[in-house]
Amino acid sequence: MDLFKDLLLPPAKSTVADNYDQLFEFVHMSSLLLTIAVLAAIIYFIIKYRRKSENEVTPVITHNNALEITWSVVPLVLVLFIFGWGFQVFLDMTSPPDDAYEVQVTAQKWLWRFQYENGASSTGELHVPADRPVRLVMSSNDVIHSFFVPDYRIKQDVVPGRYTSVWFNAPETGESTIFCTEYCGTDHSNMTGSVVVHEEDEFETWLAENAGGGTKPDDLTPAEWGEQLVQENACNTCHSTDGTELTGPTWQGKFGSEEPLSDGSTVTVDENYLRESILQPGAHIVQGYDNVMPPYQGVLSDEQINAIIEYIKTLK
Ligand code: CUA
Repeated sequence: MDLFKDLLLPPAKSTVADNYDQLFEFVHMSSLLLTIAVLAAIIYFIIKYRRKSENEVTPVITHNNALEITWSVVPLVLVLFIFGWGFQVFLDMTSPPDDAYEVQVTAQKWLWRFQYENGASSTGELHVPADRPVRLVMSSNDVIHSFFVPDYRIKQDVVPGRYTSVWFNAPETGESTIFCTEYCGTDHSNMTGSVVVHEEDEFETWLAENAGGGTKPDDLTPAEWGEQLVQENACNTCHSTDGTELTGPTWQGKFGSEEPLSDGSTVTVDENYLRESILQPGAHIVQGYDNVMPPYQGVLSDEQINAIIEYIKTLK
């Protein structure tokens, strides 16, 4: 049974996962057994009732009550049993315990942002304490995304203009991958993240260290911090730093250059142009590119934007 599970499913790392997997196994194993039983019966009947002589005539059989009741009642009982079990697991998965730790999740093309109750925030990495229920309250800044952690067996759509929620309890420390599982545009497949599960005290330390949210860590220069922000906010999935052309213009040698715009005019790439392009990317589109970048207004603080601009300046 474990081999079967290892083949089909990722490791089970949340409290609902085991119950969920048992149901999954039951549905698959019972389907497999029934399929084999039906195939065996078909083969048996093919051989037993094959035509044996030229003048053999098939008898007329109108119906068989006992047989018809059997093949209706047995599957009905089986399906009701699976429904009852599934409903119980569903209730488990949709009712967070009252003492759950809450994290606010914002999805946008193409990243995940997490905000914690003490003002700390993180992008791409969700930090949680081990062995404690965590409830995520989620919404989207643009289109529909879906929050999926296969290791936890949880998946929930994240919708603009309303809140949805999902909860989990990961008993062990470690990391699990977050996927976006609702097609949301060019970089949907890169819209991943990870859940980092800490020991309780380690988690408190992380929270305290990140309480400042959008301020620069003391040990980094603005440009170094900018580089870190670029990774966290996934800017590098569309903008290369080595001249490679991706979805958006490369940043190599961009600062100070003259760029032709889609309206036929030209712009000098200075601090003001970069700032505008981060906050309202649609305002002045570089020729040859599509207006696909999401606005970072309200996502990045002024200090963070300055750091990213400092970083871009270093890419000569
Ligand atoms: Cu976000 Cu797919």
